[in-house]
Amino acid sequence: MAEPPLAVRRRSRLGSAPKRSRPPAGPSAACSPLALKRANTGGEGVPAQRPYCNDSEEDMFGDYNSFCEDDSLLAQVLDTEHTRPRDAETDVKAAGEFVLEGLPSGIDQRKQDNSSASETGVICGGDTEHGFQTPENDPLDNKEDLGDSLLDELPSSQLLYFAEMRQPSTGSERSAGTKKIDMSKCSSLDKIWRASSPCPDSEHKNRSTEFSSDLKSDSCKNTSLKDHLKNALTENAKAQTLKVSKTKQLKEAILSEEICVARKAIGSSSVDIGPFYGLPSKVKDLFWQLRGIETLYEWQHDCLTLECLQQRKNLIYSLPTSGGKTLVAEILILQELLCMQKDVLMILPYVAIVQEKVWGLSNFGIELGFLVEEYAGSKGRFPPIKRRCKKSLYIATIEKGHMLVNSLIETDRIGDLGLVVVDELHMLGEGSRGATLEMTLAKILYTSKSTHIVGMSATLNNVGDLQKFLQAEYYTKNFRPVELKEYIKIRDTIYEVDSKAENGFTFSRLLNFKYSSNLKKADPDHIIALVTEVIPKYSCLIFCPTKKNCENVASMVCKYLNKEFRSHREKEKQDLIKDLKNIGNGSICPVLKQTIPFGVAYHHSGLTNDERKSIEEAYSRGVLCLLACTATLAAGVNLPARRVILRAPYVANDFLKKNQYKQMIGRAGRAGIDNAGESILIVQEKDKHLVQDLVTSPLENCYSNLLPEFTKIAVTQEEVYNFLCHTLLGVQQQLLSKEKSLSELVKDGLESLIEKGLLTVKIMEKDQNSKTALAITRLGKAAYKGSIDLSYCNLLYKELKKGLEGLVLESSLHLLYLATPYDMVSNCSPNWMIYLRQFNQLSAAEQTVADMVGVPESFIAKKASGQAIRKNVDSASVNRLYLTFILYTLLKETNIWSVSEKFNLSRGYVQNLLTSAASFASCVLHFCEQELEEFWVYKALLTELTKHLTYCVKTELIPLMEVAGVLEARAKQLYNAGYKTLAHLANANPETLVKTIEHLSRRQAKQIVSSAKMLLTEKAEALQEEVELLLKVPTDIPGTS
Ligand SMILES: Nc1ncnc2c1ncn2[C@@H]1O[C@H](COP(=O)(O)OP(=O)(O)OP(=O)(O)O)[C@@H](O)[C@H]1O
Ligand SMILES: [Mg+2]
Repeated sequence: MAEPPLAVRRRSRLGSAPKRSRPPAGPSAACSPLALKRANTGGEGVPAQRPYCNDSEEDMFGDYNSFCEDDSLLAQVLDTEHTRPRDAETDVKAAGEFVLEGLPSGIDQRKQDNSSASETGVICGGDTEHGFQTPENDPLDNKEDLGDSLLDELPSSQLLYFAEMRQPSTGSERSAGTKKIDMSKCSSLDKIWRASSPCPDSEHKNRSTEFSSDLKSDSCKNTSLKDHLKNALTENAKAQTLKVSKTKQLKEAILSEEICVARKAIGSSSVDIGPFYGLPSKVKDLFWQLRGIETLYEWQHDCLTLECLQQRKNLIYSLPTSGGKTLVAEILILQELLCMQKDVLMILPYVAIVQEKVWGLSNFGIELGFLVEEYAGSKGRFPPIKRRCKKSLYIATIEKGHMLVNSLIETDRIGDLGLVVVDELHMLGEGSRGATLEMTLAKILYTSKSTHIVGMSATLNNVGDLQKFLQAEYYTKNFRPVELKEYIKIRDTIYEVDSKAENGFTFSRLLNFKYSSNLKKADPDHIIALVTEVIPKYSCLIFCPTKKNCENVASMVCKYLNKEFRSHREKEKQDLIKDLKNIGNGSICPVLKQTIPFGVAYHHSGLTNDERKSIEEAYSRGVLCLLACTATLAAGVNLPARRVILRAPYVANDFLKKNQYKQMIGRAGRAGIDNAGESILIVQEKDKHLVQDLVTSPLENCYSNLLPEFTKIAVTQEEVYNFLCHTLLGVQQQLLSKEKSLSELVKDGLESLIEKGLLTVKIMEKDQNSKTALAITRLGKAAYKGSIDLSYCNLLYKELKKGLEGLVLESSLHLLYLATPYDMVSNCSPNWMIYLRQFNQLSAAEQTVADMVGVPESFIAKKASGQAIRKNVDSASVNRLYLTFILYTLLKETNIWSVSEKFNLSRGYVQNLLTSAASFASCVLHFCEQELEEFWVYKALLTELTKHLTYCVKTELIPLMEVAGVLEARAKQLYNAGYKTLAHLANANPETLVKTIEHLSRRQAKQIVSSAKMLLTEKAEALQEEVELLLKVPTDIPGTS
């Protein structure tokens, strides 16, 4: 075997380290709603924690490297996987080429049974994107006779789905899930469009005929729709330049008139609220063109027409995974932006999901004339720029959403926010991030009566508490467009999860496989048998408890896969390998190199963002058919998966929680991508009873994580108390804090803040009555603005102050130290030899930095040579400086691969450090910026540093990487192809991009162009606003009246 992957080497080293304890709240756990250290959530065990999160990174349940104690069965499994393949490899070599005996390989099956493909209606293998057939009698044929350009807009996974829908089939041949879809296509959904289409206004009637909004009528209309869509797309293509054509002006005039009418209709709060839920019919067209969504589900219509929404009441809605919750939220957002003319904040759990959404909604922004602004990592302005005409949709992570709300409250602009949408509302119960979310929502509720809150989730239980907290109505429906069948596997038996059965499962079938004795040893859990039932024809995800386990599973499966798997989409797999090599500047992880030819890969936080993106894209296109992943892929993602396998009912060491389980299995059978889905949980006999509880128990409750926090809104102790009464903690106080009442908690909390110098008490004299009031100190305000965790804001102040006495500016090292995130320090264990080597490479001036921050050279040297140390040196400073060295090397070399090798760390870890540092640097910048005048010098320095950390690439690539979704590898390609500025990208022709940039699909090209256009518009608007402000004649010029 080739040299073990760096990532694996590092992981084994980390694996031996003690399991991470709960991390301190990230700096952007914003003015620290101090996390309440509850021992369990809903009696289901300690909530798994994310390792560090300056901003939401992707692993949902943690970044564990090891999950088993030596004596656990899982440890043995892990061990078997780790060691057996090697034994087996020897066996393979001894016995010549090993072929999996008698396994129902997807390829073999496909060969034997061509009809099965058409029976289930799935186009497999080959060129699915061009493999459409339009059977004459297909009832769907006319309306789905899409133009090529229209199809190009759709995700390729959805193309596959459309192709499938077009296969000739009889009712009996279809699966239950398909039947459901068909039924819905012919029934009430039809009415929904029709009902929503007509507009009382005659102009709208004309327009709606012109745009043929009833997509399902006769073929004549279909032709006109097709023509219209083609025209619209041609128009879009033409509109690449910033010149305003007459047609465009006309279109805009029509659109703005429609918006105007819709706004009036909404204003009059009539039940009929316009052509498309109060929105121009263009919106409906856009959902079709950009998402392939033609009709709303019945529940979506019901939900959108709820009376409480018309009365602008808050709403929580809950539907199973893949129920289509996002579309409802998006329509509500568009109503708010276009009809109510208010800004909107959308809060999503992770950076990657925010970026995906920015990317996905930029097109809508360009077409409908609003701005989409990204608030994630170090991106986002506080307070946001006040726009003259256009409204803004802020798409934010939990942390940045909190900062944004803080800044709007601070500047008295919170009323500008008409709507706040929270996706994955159950995150309220997740540690310090949940506390931050709770604080954000509580502040909005307290300060702005006109801001409307809408939250959604698939996994809520104690909705009553949440409703009370959010003063919200509740809508729920047990609807999943694609049926999801749940199974568990014990030994070689598959049981179906059945809530009606006594113990929760009923026998389904015996697993059909024939294993050699070697294979039995290597794969005791029959993973290969389970995956080869579906791949490569369909896609499959295997959730594994740890990162290491993902890699082992991927390798093990490939060792025993039939050789024919290699020939499936061979060229595209080679391209993917080439792509990954480019990303790694010539290096590729040996595990991926070995597995990708079989269409298999792993996916976890040890990969760099670029690698992750490439792998996800290849998987959605069907080039890869199996991903072994951690919970990274569990929440909110829309990837194809006919089957989801849970390799064990564990996330790291912890037994799976019900909502984790539901989120993971919910990735199977996504609407619009697949027409069936199933999950199989692999269970060991010893865990059988726990799993019975898991599948039969209700979802966990969502509990507040908030401890009393000083507030910027209330000024007296009573007001603070009052404020807290309106939080989820207030609702659940008797349950969560039995020993202390809420007022005692408030008193303690305030005392601790006063002690920390963040609050002071003032006596207010009013009408001869004196009253004590709380006042926030400068430090308190700075911590609030920077969203600095209160547990280390004093330390940060002290260190920045000390820096003023002699900041070493020969290089960025000293400044970097000050921006190195505190919350990663406790998890860092330096390699002393590397530490010393790095220290020795510093210039004399740089070496003095170490001394200044309290890490003497002698300490590092002694540690490296293994000598005893008598001197007391603060280990936090030592660790922090080590992290600074990594960051410093990264900024110099801008190559994650070589730096991770230098420091013997996984590239994912290095990338996470960089992302955290960028985010923390921006927090420190906001900390210094306004309140603490003594830190004026840091403003300029940290602005630049944040930018460098955010992109960590050669300066010339930065303008391209500002565009959502353009990562380093893509930026390099674009730059080399001559697209050197944002304007180049915004005015690029997507067709030319596809031709000149390798591995860029038409859909991606269009998204890049629209994101670039959005960013350019946003920047131009900001400058125009500045100009206007500058030229505005003051009304109070002395001497003029
Ligand atoms: N009316 C519709 N017609 C066809 N497809 C739809 C419709 N509504 C949503 N979809 C598609 O269904 C898929 C799943 O929708 P969505 O992501 O909103 O699910 P969700 O309810 O948010 O699930 P999760 O809880 O897992 O995040 C998406 O691909 C979306 O485009
Ligand atoms: Mg969702």
